[in-house]
Amino acid sequence: MEEQISKIKEVAIEEIKKAANAKELDDARVKYLGKKGELTAILRGMGSLSPEERPIIGSKVNEVRDELENMIKKMEEEFAKLELEKKLKEEKIDITLPSTKVKRGSKHPLNRIIEEVEDLFVSMGYDVVTGPELETDEYCFERLNLPKGHPARDMQDSFYITSEYLLRTQTSAVQARTMMANEEKTPIRVICPGKTYRRDDDATHSHQFSQVEGLVIDKNISLADLKGTLEVFVRKMLGDNLELRFRPSYFPFTEPSYEVDVSCFKCGGKGCNLCKQTGWIEVLGSGMVHPNVLKMGGYDPEVYSGFAFGTGLDRLAMFKYGITDIRLLYQNDIRFLRQFDRLDR
Ligand code: DAH
Repeated sequence: MEEQISKIKEVAIEEIKKAANAKELDDARVKYLGKKGELTAILRGMGSLSPEERPIIGSKVNEVRDELENMIKKMEEEFAKLELEKKLKEEKIDITLPSTKVKRGSKHPLNRIIEEVEDLFVSMGYDVVTGPELETDEYCFERLNLPKGHPARDMQDSFYITSEYLLRTQTSAVQARTMMANEEKTPIRVICPGKTYRRDDDATHSHQFSQVEGLVIDKNISLADLKGTLEVFVRKMLGDNLELRFRPSYFPFTEPSYEVDVSCFKCGGKGCNLCKQTGWIEVLGSGMVHPNVLKMGGYDPEVYSGFAFGTGLDRLAMFKYGITDIRLLYQNDIRFLRQFDRLDR
């Protein structure tokens, strides 16, 4: 029996030494020391030994087992060390390599314009208000002096959802909302930037676009106030030296109404393809709030007067940044947007 144990030990040591990696080492451990291992089998068979032999064989087996276990443990440590060294070598970082570029977002050109407009009007004491994009016919048209069947409704191709609800065609809808919401009927000075929708789609029109609306109501508001305000607005946005031209026009919610042209900032008024050789570019719709609109909003037109204006923010962005297709503003093409990355840095 003792001989058998020595033999097992010899073979086991050989095999353990030969192990080339942690897996082979573990296989050897299982083979000799595992539950069904050869050395374990001898311990199991001790029952058949004489009482004198038992302690001798028992201690011999334990001795061999300790020896093998120690050996395996040492080799395991060795393998773990090698493994770690290999890993460290593989994962070596070359700190002299150039770093990868950190991707950074940029502010959308339209948001830049909106923020600029808001900053300007807030500095002049205006509030910035919002209204729903899904609007009622009442606020989008009727309360703006455009009753059902009014021919001027054809000026705007609308997306109706039901006969009463539509996607607002103009931020002017917020005029009526603001007047109605102001229960004390105190003076109003607001702008409302926001999304608007019409059934259009070409290089200069998008089915969804952005407008900003302005509304001022107070006692003694005159056309001079409108002209002065729009002059500040246009010059701040498009250039200090520009000339403004107020051209009589028609909007149902203002009387009188004006379209505001600005001298062409590209050619300085000489005539070019941007201004279609006229020297002027139309930028705003505006006018004095129609007495009917004031009345419907709960303001007495004998006491109060006001002015309003509206303009396309997309157009402002296009002029300002030289963008030729409005749809670029809504496609979120990263190659387009990236160009605005460092504009104000
Ligand atoms: N809502 C008009 C449009 O979309 C623009 C406009 C014109 C707004 C005159 C106004 C205004 O407030 O007074 O064409």
